[in-house]
Amino acid sequence: MNITIIGTGYVGLVTGACFAEMGNTVTCVDIDHEKIDNLNRGIIPIYEPGLEKLIQENKKVGRLSFSTSLKDAMKNSNIFLIAVGTPESPNGEANMDYIYSAAREIGQNLEKESVIVNKSTVPVGTADKVRTIIAEELAKRKVELKFHVVSNPEFLKEGDAIQDFMRPDRVILGTDSKYALDMLKQLYSPFTMNHDRLITMGVKEAELTKYAANAMLATKISFINEIAHICDELEIDVESVRQGIGADSRIGYSFIYPGAGYGGSCFPKDVKAIIHTAKKAGVNPLVLQSVVARNDVQKTRMFEYIQKKFGSTLEGDTFAIWGLSFKPGTDDMREAPSINLIKSLIEAGAVVQAFDPIAVGEAKKNFPEKWVSKGKLAFYEDNYEALEGADALVLMTEWKMFRNPSLSKMKELMKNLCIFDGRNQYDPYYMRANGFYYKGIGR
Ligand SMILES: NC(=O)c1ccc[n+]([C@@H]2O[C@H](COP(=O)([O-])OP(=O)(O)OC[C@H]3O[C@@H](n4cnc5c(N)ncnc54)[C@H](O)[C@@H]3O)[C@@H](O)[C@H]2O)c1
Repeated sequence: MNITIIGTGYVGLVTGACFAEMGNTVTCVDIDHEKIDNLNRGIIPIYEPGLEKLIQENKKVGRLSFSTSLKDAMKNSNIFLIAVGTPESPNGEANMDYIYSAAREIGQNLEKESVIVNKSTVPVGTADKVRTIIAEELAKRKVELKFHVVSNPEFLKEGDAIQDFMRPDRVILGTDSKYALDMLKQLYSPFTMNHDRLITMGVKEAELTKYAANAMLATKISFINEIAHICDELEIDVESVRQGIGADSRIGYSFIYPGAGYGGSCFPKDVKAIIHTAKKAGVNPLVLQSVVARNDVQKTRMFEYIQKKFGSTLEGDTFAIWGLSFKPGTDDMREAPSINLIKSLIEAGAVVQAFDPIAVGEAKKNFPEKWVSKGKLAFYEDNYEALEGADALVLMTEWKMFRNPSLSKMKELMKNLCIFDGRNQYDPYYMRANGFYYKGIGR
């Protein structure tokens, strides 16, 4: 099949590479000329395990190409997947400008019966709006053509994106068109061979399913973070409580790890967007609002722990930070809790020595250059180098390489044996027995 992907970000690039791998011919289009130039020169704009190899191999055999011209790409294709960004607007609503502009361009260039698939996370009613925009553009051209708009939300996780796309838990297709359904069933059949993972439903139901899924995951995180806060006040260990509740199969162990708050490009904006949808529908979203409020508090918890130990002024104190990206396996820094923490530390007078195995390049964009030039913030290529002279280590991203560090090296390098563990990676009893002050989330 000949496919065009509109928007070559995390979702578009992974989708394009995975469809090409299954024998399809794919063109990934983007309005960002630099990104497309780089991709054509073999430079991959994001870090995602396994992605670079997949792109290079499929590009080499001509199944995957990159372009800034949607018009050209559309000539050979009759399936268009929209994977542009839907960032947060100031009022919490999803900003739909990129979606509508992609729809307009499709309408301006459509030449044959086609299926338009929305993979971006979009509010209920977007497919109708996309349909209207395309119809208006066709009418301006006095062209009569059949086209079908489908909602096919994407559930991949950054850091595991290829695996998630290749072996999805489910593929959701929201449409009332048999023509579109037959075509998409064929497109997704290589990914659903083992057992049927397709769930078909109405367009609006598919649109809401994506928001409801992300809101549920964010709710689990905010819930356990609140339990951890209660544990802090009662001086009991949340880890025992986590294991105790996770053993109940109705609850399960996944997504109940306490931490320094959720971040990334999806949960923060998607929970706010569903709140906006609820309010517009006349519903007071009590649970969802609390999820956001807890996360806002959670992002300040590590700093509170630090101030409790070091006092409110941190002048003359040096903090090593291990892990900057919002989660392991990605260089995505969008809404990463490490940003809030580093800003608070430096504003309180501290010096920060930061390390991340992948995300340093992206991380630097979030802080004033003068912090680096004035020696307030430094980035290191080795996690132990970042510990030199530190009064404390703060772990913010649970990269595997941090799990079993050399305590002897730490003792040699750190000025003060003190660990703040924002992802509960270490055993407090073991660390304390080895002479460290240890504070985890709710432990
Ligand atoms: N990142 C994730 O893990 C993830 C997972 C599931 C769903 N989603 C959703 O998928 C959508 C895309 O997310 P992302 O993280 O890939 O975004 P992204 O910001 O990484 O990429 C979006 C790309 O679209 C391009 N673009 C914007 N307007 C365009 C246009 N008119 N024509 C062509 N290209 C255009 C941008 O230049 C950018 O490169 C969002 O709605 C997001 O919520 C993201």
